[in-house]
Amino acid sequence: MKKFNRSNYCGMFNVSNLGETVTLYGWVQKKRELGKLIFIDLRDRTGIIQLALDDSADENMFDVIREIKSEYIIEAKGVIRERTAKNKNIPTGEIEVKLIDVKILSEAQTPPFEVSKVSEVNEETRLKYRYLELRNPTVQEKIIIRHKIAKLARDYFYEKDFIEIETPILIKSTPEGARDYLVPSRVFKGRFFALPQSPQLYKQISMVSGFDRYMQIARCFRDEDLRADRQPEFTQIDLEASFVDMEDIITLAEGFIKKIYKEILDVEIKTPFRRMPYSEAMGRYGSDKPDLRFGLEIVSIEDIVQNCEFKVFAETVKAGGAVKGINAKGLSSLLTRREIDSITEEMKGCGAKGLAFTKINNDGTTSSSYEKFFTDDENRKIRKEMDAENGDVIFIVADKSQSLVQEILGILRCRLAEKFGLIKEEQDDNGKIVPNLLWVVDFPLFEYDCEEKRYVAKHHPFTSPIDEDLEKLESFPEQVRAKAYDLVLNGNEVGGGSIRINDPKIQNKMFSALGFSEEEIEKRFGFLIEAFKYGVPPHGGLAFGFDRLVMLMLGAKSIREVITFPKVASSAELMTDSPGEIDKNQLSELGINLQ
Ligand code: AMO
Ligand code: AMP
Repeated sequence: MKKFNRSNYCGMFNVSNLGETVTLYGWVQKKRELGKLIFIDLRDRTGIIQLALDDSADENMFDVIREIKSEYIIEAKGVIRERTAKNKNIPTGEIEVKLIDVKILSEAQTPPFEVSKVSEVNEETRLKYRYLELRNPTVQEKIIIRHKIAKLARDYFYEKDFIEIETPILIKSTPEGARDYLVPSRVFKGRFFALPQSPQLYKQISMVSGFDRYMQIARCFRDEDLRADRQPEFTQIDLEASFVDMEDIITLAEGFIKKIYKEILDVEIKTPFRRMPYSEAMGRYGSDKPDLRFGLEIVSIEDIVQNCEFKVFAETVKAGGAVKGINAKGLSSLLTRREIDSITEEMKGCGAKGLAFTKINNDGTTSSSYEKFFTDDENRKIRKEMDAENGDVIFIVADKSQSLVQEILGILRCRLAEKFGLIKEEQDDNGKIVPNLLWVVDFPLFEYDCEEKRYVAKHHPFTSPIDEDLEKLESFPEQVRAKAYDLVLNGNEVGGGSIRINDPKIQNKMFSALGFSEEEIEKRFGFLIEAFKYGVPPHGGLAFGFDRLVMLMLGAKSIREVITFPKVASSAELMTDSPGEIDKNQLSELGINLQ
């Protein structure tokens, strides 16, 4: 006979099961004793059901039940009956199980916090006891939905003829932007594997192998500073396809986003998504992942201030720099002087040299850090250009670097929107909130690295230039645009990809623009160049940031909420206390001598 005979999960019963004799397994969430009347809330991953014992029960049962405490794991047998006091808050609230038999399967120490009250516990404690936190249905549900999205991804791409291919985790270190995690080799002392920042080169090589359409739910590793939307190890839904152009990849990706929103959240998303060139995104919103759910667009005022008396602005323009601002519309009563001072400090922390402002109160009186340096006419022009009226606050940033000005104002607009609730969500026909989606396209192929004093690839060195910009590859590299595209959701980058170079001549020009010597090319990407010599189909791809996507779909505040065992900002994992120390023997086997 089977030892465990679960009739169903706790949350799956309702009035249609009245009178049934059932066997249940779960964790004790709560026990209430009212004399000889005892109630237990039994929990599993589907929900909670109430178990009830009254004085008609056998005395032995009372002995067992008296032993039971929170988080004990039990087997409960009983009959489903209607509850007298119904609980409208839970789906099983109309019924309860009249206990016939109960067995303790595992005892539990008093936990450091109550599973039902995780929201009151600090993150450090929650993550140290992550397994207890995960018992909470709300916490657990995010991981279960993550699983459902992964399944939908596989269903969707399998149906479109994609083949799931696993690529290695121990690979050769190839530069991809972030710092690599390295793994020392025992056999080849002094040599290292790297953990992949993404399966980029392998998925391209799988195109050389003729797989034609590759997909993988791939773990990636990047040793970079962490933020709420970044983890050192994270997951991509990674794609690559042959004989495709940008439109094919974009259509595929849009179909996928549409499908998961429909199936998981029942939200209707319209395709095609909006597209915006990188230069417009930076110019109007100061970000390559602009949040379009609110205004506060950047306005240029170089023309107005170029000959003004205020040296900071005039000289910046003369030096070829930028003077731009945003109008915090209607925020003058909320933006107190103290608030403005603190925002100014924050922007200085982000690299701004200063933040000039004019606050126009509702009654028309003003306070300004710069208007005194300008003529009435200039001030009028600035206000007009900024569309400023009573109740508004103008913020202006000047700097020699146009990109810094854009970046600061981009941060400022998001900060103001978040702080003062300016975000306007769009709704679909059924009143459900629709995410704001757009493709940022026409990225520059290169960006200048001031520290290294050379151009570096904005995406990676295999990203194809746009055909009409090809001739500028050597003469004006900074003007060359890439066949690259990023998917932005509510101001977050949730995916990125490109069409790759499949012409060796263009690849060589690209390498020389990047300043790589023959030797370096050979050392870094020799295997890829070699593979490409044997015939490489035109190809391109994309990777979704799976964790970010799940986080945004579920409205989670941090990527950590949708990762089963996440790391904290210092990149430590608190439950296992890793990274951990390594014993001397292990190190000496690897030929490593710690200083
Ligand atoms: P990219 O570097 O843009 O592209 O990464 C793709 C997506 O992965 C997510 N992402 C992250 N999520 C969590 N934590 C991180 N540290 C992190 N870093 C990136 C982002 C991002 O959009 N090989 C290319 C893809 C391609 O060209 O096909 C790549 O890795 O959502
Ligand atoms: P100052 O004359 O230095 O006191 O500056 C007058 C105002 O201009 C102050 O509000 C400063 O914060 C602001 N300011 C100074 N430098 C810049 C800059 N580069 N961009 C924007 N505002 C600035």
